[in-house]
Amino acid sequence: MAGGARCGNERAAVKTAPIVPARIVSDDDGTPRSADYGDIYHPRSGALAQARHVFLDGAALAARWRNRARFVVLETGFGLGNNFLATWSAWRADPGRSRQLHFISIEQAPPTRATIASIGRDAVLAPLADELGRRWPPLTCNLHRLAFDGGAVELLLAFGAVDAWLPQIVGEVDAFFLDGFAPARNPAMWDARLFKAMARLAAADATVATWSAARVVRDGLRGAGFEVEKAPGSAGKRDITRARFAPRFTPRRSPRVAEPAWPMAAPARSGRAAAQVVIVGAGLAGCALARALAEGGCRSLVLERGADIADGGSGNRAGIFHGVVHRGDGRHARFHRAAALMAATAVRDATERDGVRGDVGGVLRLESGIGLAEMKSLLEAQALPADYVEALDAGAASAIAGTTLATPAWHYPNGGWIDPRGLARSWLDRAGAGAVLRLRCNVASLCRVGDAWQVRDGDGAAIATAPTVALCNGDGVLAGTGNAPWPIRRQRGQLSVIAASCLPPAALTRLPIAGEGYVLPPIDDAVWFGAASSWDDDPALRPEDQQRNVERLASLIGLRSPTALRALAGRVGFRFTSDDRLPVIGAVPAPIAAALASGFVAAPTSRFDQPRFIARAPGLFVLAALGSRGIASAAFGAQLLAAAIAGAPSPAEADVLDAVDPARFLSRRYRRDEAARARASVLPGQPPVGPIAGSAGT
Ligand SMILES: Cc1cc2nc3c(=O)[nH]c(=O)nc-3n(C[C@H](O)[C@H](O)[C@H](O)COP(=O)(O)OP(=O)(O)OC[C@H]3O[C@@H](n4cnc5c(N)ncnc54)[C@H](O)[C@@H]3O)c2cc1C
Ligand SMILES: C[S@@+](CC[C@H](N)C(=O)[O-])C[C@H]1O[C@@H](n2cnc3c(N)ncnc32)[C@H](O)[C@@H]1O
Repeated sequence: MAGGARCGNERAAVKTAPIVPARIVSDDDGTPRSADYGDIYHPRSGALAQARHVFLDGAALAARWRNRARFVVLETGFGLGNNFLATWSAWRADPGRSRQLHFISIEQAPPTRATIASIGRDAVLAPLADELGRRWPPLTCNLHRLAFDGGAVELLLAFGAVDAWLPQIVGEVDAFFLDGFAPARNPAMWDARLFKAMARLAAADATVATWSAARVVRDGLRGAGFEVEKAPGSAGKRDITRARFAPRFTPRRSPRVAEPAWPMAAPARSGRAAAQVVIVGAGLAGCALARALAEGGCRSLVLERGADIADGGSGNRAGIFHGVVHRGDGRHARFHRAAALMAATAVRDATERDGVRGDVGGVLRLESGIGLAEMKSLLEAQALPADYVEALDAGAASAIAGTTLATPAWHYPNGGWIDPRGLARSWLDRAGAGAVLRLRCNVASLCRVGDAWQVRDGDGAAIATAPTVALCNGDGVLAGTGNAPWPIRRQRGQLSVIAASCLPPAALTRLPIAGEGYVLPPIDDAVWFGAASSWDDDPALRPEDQQRNVERLASLIGLRSPTALRALAGRVGFRFTSDDRLPVIGAVPAPIAAALASGFVAAPTSRFDQPRFIARAPGLFVLAALGSRGIASAAFGAQLLAAAIAGAPSPAEADVLDAVDPARFLSRRYRRDEAARARASVLPGQPPVGPIAGSAGT
């Protein structure tokens, strides 16, 4: 239906409640107050003073983040962002700070961008607040990643209720800041289940800081394994609460959360030092990953078999990106929405800072399945904000496009188009000395040698050895591998291009239009459109596909006059698509690694029923099957994978990680086998058997 992959069996991931912006009023002295909770956002003595005394000192941040690779804070109640800004400001000012600061914050009623920009701030925080305002995301139910200071500071903003979000956070937390409104007015923020969820996330010496000294808070923390103490309050408060995680037993972590395969605290400045990660493939995926890893101080060696980067699927002259609207806000919708929002930031950076050709000027997606009224009620039910998507009638859509459109359309204002090769190059350039590229280097096989992975050429000679390898070569399959480890298929696509002067001026669009196929605005007098797709390997342009593309163009922009096929040129490319149309991103399951690599023996896996319980091969990762949305999903996929590789908090929630997890095919197969066994009354609990490749169903 509405602008994306259709999927019948999506189940809602995080319970998606519409995000309603905060209603904030000002007391006489200017202190911001919530109109919904009747409570103030910070004491009258000021937000910065409270942040410093209660939270920064309460967590002993300066002492605890000293010389660490990363430090992770999780806050309940982002509010106006003062605690985040105070933490960021303290981190900036401290020469002994951790290399990276991750600040996760959960907020049910976020302020709008206008509020973030207009709220009064302490002078120390004001310039940082401006930067926050510039990066402020649309208010959608997602985990939004906002990067500052070249990616050294990462804000993961979860919009939604704390009880829905805490179980979805993947990562290890060093310091919790509990900053709900007063427990009597805001009991949901201090529920005992919340403290239990915190225990699951707590690092060994995790601390808790809160201004509240309420009994319910202290008892709840104690019940979840925290040692609680009172500390002197300030601003008229007698006591505040501090706590330290001291559990009687250590909760088991999911095997999906791998330890980094190298010491993350190791210096990573020298370009000559050995690579920590070997990346196979320099398309959008490989280049995005090199950049994401470099942001975290990790060096990579990128191996590309072609003579240039982005010569395969990523080599089109231009492509589009935009979000999706689905009837149920399930995992597909959440993945693609988060990905599209991150793509918008990445494309803006690439066009504005690096001069890559492209534009975040919106995309129109024509809708012929449902009418405008239904489109609007869908948006209303999910409270999707207009800066993410809006439903337009044909007239309004035509006015934006500058050409006549026959149907209503979804307008994604943060969508756009970009030259994908330019984008890939800008990512690699930004990785700087953190990434070394080697072209004409075909990786044929993979071997486990001691505690490392060795990639080899077709003659079996070693190309490189590293603790970590990431397969970013389109489908994550190497020629030397036997059965395909996942159901991914290679799809041919043919784009057509015509000189803009060959089309009637009224047919030229100002922004990309998608529907059955897509058409781009003129780029250097060329209009690209397509893409006819098929499941064959023919690398040559085919006249019949040019004809199909012309028909699509006609239906998109109502072109009546015939287009001379002779006037057309084009490009053929190949993309890789999984059977559920989601990418394959994450740590490779141990049983699959055993099939992919020689010399690797998988320890037995006891549970196959859910991806997150399946054991992983140490240091082997994949980012593949970006399908027809690689521009939209490469940056997000790379951030997910970089976090998994480095052991950093994930910028995606657990359900979305499940949805793209390379282990999902094993779980599905296992569940199918179990059902078959149950029908045949065979013993349950056997691992899935045989290759999975046959299940490709697209
Ligand atoms: C016709 C067409 C139109 C498209 N339009 C859009 C669009 O508008 N918007 C959008 O978002 N997406 C679009 N896509 C999809 C998008 O281009 C892909 O999803 C994306 O390029 C995939 O990037 P990748 O890095 O995963 O794969 P690739 O670009 O295929 O990169 C993989 C790289 O790995 C290298 N490699 C492979 N095997 C090895 C090996 N063994 N050793 C070393 N190197 C190896 C390859 O040479 C290649 O450079 C389109 C695709 C096609 C074909
Ligand atoms: C005291 S304010 C937070 C102030 C903030 N830490 C700052 O530095 O500006 C409390 C916040 O908790 C949020 N909140 C209340 N109930 C919530 C819930 N169930 N889930 C998530 N956030 C909630 C409120 O919307 C409010 O923004």
